Amino acid sequence: MIELEGSTPPDSPTPPAAPPALDGTVVVRESLDDVIDAVAGDLFMQACACVRAFGDFHLALSGGSTPQPLYRRLMYDPNYRDLPWKRTHLWIVDERVVPFDDDRSNFKMIRELIVEHSAIPPEQVHPIPAMLAQPDLLYEQEIRENLGWRERGHDRLDFALLGMGADAHTASLFPHSPALNDRERLVLPNAGPTVTPPDRVTMTLHMINASRLVAVLVTGPGKRQTIARLVRERPPAREAPIMGVRPLGGELRWYLDRAACPDASEP
Ligand code: 6PG
Repeated sequence: MIELEGSTPPDSPTPPAAPPALDGTVVVRESLDDVIDAVAGDLFMQACACVRAFGDFHLALSGGSTPQPLYRRLMYDPNYRDLPWKRTHLWIVDERVVPFDDDRSNFKMIRELIVEHSAIPPEQVHPIPAMLAQPDLLYEQEIRENLGWRERGHDRLDFALLGMGADAHTASLFPHSPALNDRERLVLPNAGPTVTPPDRVTMTLHMINASRLVAVLVTGPGKRQTIARLVRERPPAREAPIMGVRPLGGELRWYLDRAACPDASEP
């Protein structure tokens, strides 16, 4: 399904090109601000619906620079301040193997932008213990313990926010990562020549694809060629890990600003 909302008004001299033909729902907005608004609105609605249905909301957030304006917006925009943080469990999609006070730590960024400014109870904040031995197993256990309270079938993430690198990696699943082949584990370590240093710990495709809603936020001209490549070549997940994101019983939604969308003429 393709959804083009909030785009160029009808009397605009340059009508918008068709949104890129990606799998799932593709939400395109003209500006960065508008696309942040779209994802924030959907996150808010999903949170409220899950709290109504299950009593809590399990949210997994990514690192990187792209989602930072969204995280800020959730804190300062009065439209989103009422997000039910007290009922939210906050998970981290992937982490770099560095201490939490290192500027490369995803949790450091998410703690500074969200945790410290929301009413989320500390026991509902779940950083990946990347510096401990076997962090993947520890995190997997923590996920199972917390989601295990839910009825079977509902024991999954309610909202997973992903980004995408120019090499089409997502989470810390890089092209040709052995972790891409795993069909059972929820979290895995990822290191070695195919990983952009530092070493990583990451949710697997198996975990991500079980989510109720997966949102892929891609903004700015730096990702335009990558989006064009996905549409043109439809590469397999081993070459472009983002292509392995296909929620099984859930929904996939891309959120793109106009700058990240290739022109129809783009090779
Ligand atoms: C990370 C991420 C990673 C990120 C992409 C895009 O820890 O780096 O979770 O998958 O989303 O690398 O990063 P940017 O948003 O910085 O382009």
